[in-house]
Amino acid sequence: MNTFYKKYLLEATKYRGGEARPESQANLIKLSSNENQFGPSPDALEAIRSSLNGLHEYPDNDDSRLRKALVEHYQNKLEVDHFFCAPAGSEIIELICRAFLNAGEEIIICNPSFIPFKVFSEKMGARVVQVPLDGKTFQFNISLILKSITPQTRLVFLASPNNPTGNIICRSDLEALLANLPQHVILVYDEVYHHYVEASAYSTAIDFVNRNQNILAVNSFSKVFGLAGLRLGYGYGPPKLVSYIRCLLKPFLNSTLAISGGIAALNDEPFLLKSIRNNTTQKRLFYKFFTEIGLKYWPSEANFILVKPEIPVKAFCRYLLAQGIMVRPVQIHDEPYVRITIGVPAQNQKLFQALRTIHENQSLIYQGISLN
Ligand SMILES: Cc1ncc(COP(=O)(O)O)c(C=O)c1O
Repeated sequence: MNTFYKKYLLEATKYRGGEARPESQANLIKLSSNENQFGPSPDALEAIRSSLNGLHEYPDNDDSRLRKALVEHYQNKLEVDHFFCAPAGSEIIELICRAFLNAGEEIIICNPSFIPFKVFSEKMGARVVQVPLDGKTFQFNISLILKSITPQTRLVFLASPNNPTGNIICRSDLEALLANLPQHVILVYDEVYHHYVEASAYSTAIDFVNRNQNILAVNSFSKVFGLAGLRLGYGYGPPKLVSYIRCLLKPFLNSTLAISGGIAALNDEPFLLKSIRNNTTQKRLFYKFFTEIGLKYWPSEANFILVKPEIPVKAFCRYLLAQGIMVRPVQIHDEPYVRITIGVPAQNQKLFQALRTIHENQSLIYQGISLN
């Protein structure tokens, strides 16, 4: 092999992300990627439209305008020096990896969790140490995370709510984890689904950042703001960590459309509230319906729910797709599950109808026999 290749880059796990909507299927109900089913924030759309005529000019040189809007959105609990912005939450994760990881160092992830934690770390040549979630409840194992830390560990990744399981780490466990983290380790705390959380035991990273603890929060405009196609995300953390990450930021990194859309979305409170309210009420209906048809599910604090179908996952997903509904098969500890995004009422009703048919015709659907 040529010597100019980095072996660890060639060997890094590949990540493709979820499937996009197939081109010819405008009517498909896409409940596979945890997007906001109301569409984009209307205020963001309007801001993007009015920015179009300025596309011949470069965008803001840095992210200061967006950071100011974030300070307001966070009601001055954080300051501009706490934030950094990039084209999507995934980029925020990659920036953190690029900033803090050298080949041969270690990171800790929970398994299962958001796959890019592993992928982007491997691309830096880091060794990935996996700490399994509880096999039944998917709860985080804080003591095993702490026991897995070595002098080579640099980052611990934790998503709360976690994707694909939907559960959170409670504030007291988060406090315990941070209190016991050695100084050479940073906790990367992914909170991209935090708007949807109902549990009072939940905490974002804000208080810990204000105490200057070693924590970096990951956030995205792809979820509740409905802007997954725009590609915009932000992180926040103690200024000393953030100013170091900023060494990697290029001028004009975020596009004019992303900056305008992002700022408008942050201020579109009615849309935010509508989206959160829908999720909360529809989630209750999912639970009720799943219980009624005996479909095993895990309570979720996010905008998706993990289920374990009674029939093989392949047949389950294939039938739903034939009904115009796309869901996401996931593999956890070598067992197949399905992750379903909570949609708007009309979509959810269609989903329930299809799930009822599966429940009532299990063996036919398993064998791929047409019900017509
Ligand atoms: C846990 C988690 N973190 C981060 C992201 C990144 O989202 P994006 O790159 O679209 O901002 C996702 C997307 O699905 C996610 O589920």
